[in-house]
Amino acid sequence: MKKRVFIAGATGWAGSALSKGVFEKDNLELVGGLSSSKGGEDLTKVLNLGTENEIPIFSKIEEAIKALEIDVLVEYTKPDIAKHNIVTALKNNINVVIGTSGLDNEDYQEIEKTAVDNDASVLAVGNFAITVVLLQKFSQIAAKYIPNYEIIDYAHQDKVDAPSGTARQLAHSLSKVQEPKQHVSDDNFRGEKESRGARIDGVHVHSVRLPGHVISIESIFGLKDERLSIRHDSGASADPYVKGGILAIEKVNDFKGLKRGLDSIMDFNL
Ligand SMILES: NC(=O)c1ccc[n+]([C@@H]2O[C@H](COP(=O)([O-])OP(=O)(O)OC[C@H]3O[C@@H](n4cnc5c(N)ncnc54)[C@H](OP(=O)(O)O)[C@@H]3O)[C@@H](O)[C@H]2O)c1
Repeated sequence: MKKRVFIAGATGWAGSALSKGVFEKDNLELVGGLSSSKGGEDLTKVLNLGTENEIPIFSKIEEAIKALEIDVLVEYTKPDIAKHNIVTALKNNINVVIGTSGLDNEDYQEIEKTAVDNDASVLAVGNFAITVVLLQKFSQIAAKYIPNYEIIDYAHQDKVDAPSGTARQLAHSLSKVQEPKQHVSDDNFRGEKESRGARIDGVHVHSVRLPGHVISIESIFGLKDERLSIRHDSGASADPYVKGGILAIEKVNDFKGLKRGLDSIMDFNL
């Protein structure tokens, strides 16, 4: 049976690319989308999907859940509405794939509890691009051997949240491998604390927001007389996120509770 997929943010930059990808998959059925400005319209027409069968757009998640049978909800809207959509879906026993950035560890604790309480599953992925997953994996290996590292996240000037979801997730996963050493204690520090970046799970994360940048991430490792940089740069289209998004939708039913990162469901054995 086809898995019925609903995409919150189906008309957006990332959501529309994923909607088209889901629409083309034989094992998935795109049953609807969420958008605050296009509620009541037909997603097939908005995205030019080339089918006569209407795919409804809703403006409220509650209305969509009432009207449709949904197996997986993909959250791709904005941080201010994302948690409401996620928690509402979980309370209705719908499994969730989270692409939206800007949720913090406290949000994830609540999301995990809601998933567990409702016997549902959530897969939160800060970045669905397979090459970014590789950056995360390579950085985890480096963090095992090098306890001195920081993260820089670069984005265009209009990105509203900082650090990026990718940077948060990278900080979270690296800190689990080994927390970075703090060489100057907070008591001994002189100057503006902000100049050392945000401290996410004990990791210094620096966010650059400038025109001329799309989305990049870099983990920097240092040892005496040697350093290592692992960097990823994204291009301008949302295409790199589609393949990983579809993989997440296919795998989210395979476990219960919360998993973070696409690497948590990928096989890295050679
Ligand atoms: N994990 C990843 O790999 C990845 C990749 C790309 C982007 N992202 C993240 O995904 C999120 C979306 O990014 P984007 O660039 O696609 O944004 P976008 O182009 O602005 O799209 C946002 C989508 O959400 C809908 N939306 C926004 N507010 C809403 C509300 N209150 N109620 C219902 N629908 C609402 C928008 O429709 P209306 O305008 O009609 O409301 C639109 O369909 C961001 O947090 C971004 O950082 C993650």
